[in-house]
Amino acid sequence: MVVMAQNRLPMWPRPWALVVALLVLLACGQPVWAFQLPPLPYAADALEPAIDARTMTIHHDRHHAGYVKALNAAVAADPALAELSLEQLLARGARLPEVVRNNAGGHWNHSQFWTAMAPPGQGGEPSEALTGAIEASFGSLAGLREQFSAAAASRFGSGWAWLILKPNGELAITSSANQDNPLMGLRGSGRGTPLLGLDVWEHAYYLNYQNRRPDYIEAWWSLLNWDELNHRYAAARAPS
Ligand SMILES: [Fe+2]
Repeated sequence: MVVMAQNRLPMWPRPWALVVALLVLLACGQPVWAFQLPPLPYAADALEPAIDARTMTIHHDRHHAGYVKALNAAVAADPALAELSLEQLLARGARLPEVVRNNAGGHWNHSQFWTAMAPPGQGGEPSEALTGAIEASFGSLAGLREQFSAAAASRFGSGWAWLILKPNGELAITSSANQDNPLMGLRGSGRGTPLLGLDVWEHAYYLNYQNRRPDYIEAWWSLLNWDELNHRYAAARAPS
C-alpha cells in the first residue's frame, strides 16, 4: 500500500544530523543564539543633509554593532537568558542584569530606528487609520510633531523619544533614558508598543549639530518613513 507523502507525520532530524548542524554552526563561528547586526536599509549618505554619512556609518557600524557584540557576550554567559528572543529579554525589564538591559535595548532601539527613516521624499504618507488615531490623541499631525519634538528635546542626557500604542488603544508620547524602551514596562518610560523611536544620544547627531539637538530633531522629521509607521501601527492593532 502506498502511503501518500502528505499524510505522513513530519520526519524529525536524526540525532547525528543535529550534531552535524551544530558542528557546522560552531565551525562558522556563529552560535545559534547570536543576535545579528541588521544592515542599513539604504546607503549611508542617503539621509543627507539631515543626517550625514559619517554619522550614519559610525552610528551603525560602531555603536549599534557594539551593542550587538556586547549583548551576545552577555547572554552567552548566562544560560537562563541565552534561549530568549530579543523581545522576551526586553519584557524582563528591570529584572535584567544591567549589561543585558542596556545592550538588548540598544540593539532593539537602533534596529527600529534605521527602518523608521527613509531618504527625503521616499517615506510616503500617513495612512487614513494612523491619521485618525493621531488626530484623536494629538489634535493633528502638527500636534504630534510638536509634542514628540518637545519630548525629544527635553529628555535629559542620553535617551529616546517614543510614540507608543498604549494597551487601551490610544497613542501616547513618552521618552526613556539610556537604552531603555517602552517594551520594558519601566516606570517613567511609558508602557505600550513602540511605533516610533528617535535617538537623542549625542552620538546620533553631534558631528553635524554639536549641541543643537532641536535642529537635529527638526531635520529628522524630513526622514520619517510613514510607510513603515503605517505598517507598525496596523501590526500593533492586529489581534495577536
Ligand atoms: Fe544611537
